[in-house]
Amino acid sequence: MFSTELITKFNDTPTPFYYYNLELLENTLEAIKEASSAYNYHVHYALKANSNHKILALIESHGFGADCVGGNEVKRAVECNFSADKIVFAGVGKTDDEINIALENDIFCFNCESIPELEVINELAEKKGKVAQIALRINPNVNANTHHYITTGLEENKFGINRWEFEDILKTLEQLDHIKLIGLHFHIGSQITDLSAFKGLCLRVNEIQEWFYEHKIIVDHINVGGGLGIDYENPKENPIPDFKKFFKIFNDFIALRPQQQLHFELGRSVVGQCGTLISKVLYVKNGVNTDFAIVDAGMTELLRPALYQATHSIENLTSNSQELKRYDVVGPICESSDCFAKSLLLPETKRGDLVAIHSAGAYGEVMASQYNLRDLVKAIY
Ligand code: LLP
Repeated sequence: MFSTELITKFNDTPTPFYYYNLELLENTLEAIKEASSAYNYHVHYALKANSNHKILALIESHGFGADCVGGNEVKRAVECNFSADKIVFAGVGKTDDEINIALENDIFCFNCESIPELEVINELAEKKGKVAQIALRINPNVNANTHHYITTGLEENKFGINRWEFEDILKTLEQLDHIKLIGLHFHIGSQITDLSAFKGLCLRVNEIQEWFYEHKIIVDHINVGGGLGIDYENPKENPIPDFKKFFKIFNDFIALRPQQQLHFELGRSVVGQCGTLISKVLYVKNGVNTDFAIVDAGMTELLRPALYQATHSIENLTSNSQELKRYDVVGPICESSDCFAKSLLLPETKRGDLVAIHSAGAYGEVMASQYNLRDLVKAIY
């Protein structure tokens, strides 16, 4: 995957750092465009997965919209030239300042999650003499079969408006003159690899649309969120997710009304595989069952293993040894959860070896912290 020249460049760069393969990102973007344009679907890239300027510039240059979950993400999207009429703004806890930023930029749509939020957006829009376009984020109560921390579309989750609130929502909307309902929004979770969950979502969307139709409401667009998973086990074999299969499910199962547009908010599947965390082995230390390979990256640079028990494929880039040994690959942070892999087979590993922790493009750099007063690390391309 990495050429000798690239590994030499890695060796000359202070570790740890994120390496982004922009060619792979470009190919991924082309694949998404090809697969989505077959059905005229609109894709908003979810900035929360990675909001690095270079990455955003490339994504914007391919004509994607932006999905933001905070005022600073809206600002970043605007700064990176995403057209305001392709920006959507979600989140259960939008502050007044954040709503104002979005209003000032005349974004395409607020994805709204509660009655009090609708009232606040209406009030702030009125103060500015504007009408805010909104979509209702509906909790579809569909199980995404993913890690419980990244499941969002169940009634027990904090997200979205539940079925029993629909009547009240419509009554509220009738009274609010400074918001205009233009869409229905859904998102069932992230890292979804069992695609039948998306079929389940489509069928639920159809039922919900029926309810709105009976109440004489047909919205301009349906937004089905993101969630398409990537192959963390075999990133080299599957660097680009199967977007054709993904979009086809929606084409097959969602019942759109005439003129109704379908929107997506893809994050991980766009950027996940183009990023790698490169780290150096500091020490190899004997353990009881396996040795510890202590590397200079930790949960501060990639939180996913510690937070979600996520597995990222790890490769020793520089060892020439033919002998395979088992290692716990751990970081330097003062937490036992600061562990990237347990009992992993690697070629014999020594101090100074470079390791690649793959599939770190999504929810890697954006979730970095300065815990233990560590410095934030750089990205190279
Ligand atoms: N739309 C909404 C409303 C979302 O909440 C999310 C992700 C997305 C779109 C993008 O989903 P994606 O296509 O990336 O699955 N930090 C976790 C993932 C959190 C996902 C949060 N919501 C992780 O590292 O696995």
